[in-house]
Amino acid sequence: MLKVAIILGSTRPGRNGEAVAKWVHGVATKKGGADYELVDIKDFDLPLLDEPAPPSMGQYTKPHTKAWSAKIDAFDAFVFVTPEYNHGTSGALKNAIDYLYKEWNNKAAGFVSYGSAGGVRAVEQLRLVMAELQVADVRAQVTLSLYDDFENFSVFKPRSRHESSVGTLLDQLLAWAGALKTLRNK
Ligand SMILES: Cc1cc2nc3c(=O)[nH]c(=O)nc-3n(C[C@H](O)[C@H](O)[C@H](O)COP(=O)(O)O)c2cc1C
Repeated sequence: MLKVAIILGSTRPGRNGEAVAKWVHGVATKKGGADYELVDIKDFDLPLLDEPAPPSMGQYTKPHTKAWSAKIDAFDAFVFVTPEYNHGTSGALKNAIDYLYKEWNNKAAGFVSYGSAGGVRAVEQLRLVMAELQVADVRAQVTLSLYDDFENFSVFKPRSRHESSVGTLLDQLLAWAGALKTLRNK
């Protein structure tokens, strides 16, 4: 069974991301086809990157890095749930991504984003980051509008069409995750 992490990429008190990530997890679990786990980067209390060696060398010295590495290493694929902050992803998510290297390599990823324009600008930036980490990012994405999928910009009420968008994203994600697993096993 493939293991998929749904990564909650905002840490702000009162964050909208928590409801979005829980919804993605619920839709994915109902659909099946893989083991899905919600991974909240807030739980790892990662400071701004404080490892002396570049992550690509894998010489981790800090307990928080080792815990984060062990968690991410166990997955075959990722769904990043990202807000849009100043047309990019959150600093917290970028920092969490930067902490690791080989744990991401040759795996698949998809994006669920939210913002006034659906968070699309944050995802475009994340796709560039994925290329450097050798992550295959699928085309299908879920873009949630702060105007149309949240009441008062804060109570998450997704339009019904988004559930099938999550399904399409997962179909593409699981196909690539399975293919890339064979590459990692060589
Ligand atoms: C620092 C900051 C910058 C933001 N910049 C943008 C932006 O550039 N585009 C946008 O659509 N929304 C922007 N927003 C609004 C966020 O998309 C919205 O607050 C969202 O709920 C943030 O995710 P979170 O609640 O999970 O932290 C910004 C919010 C914050 C806190």
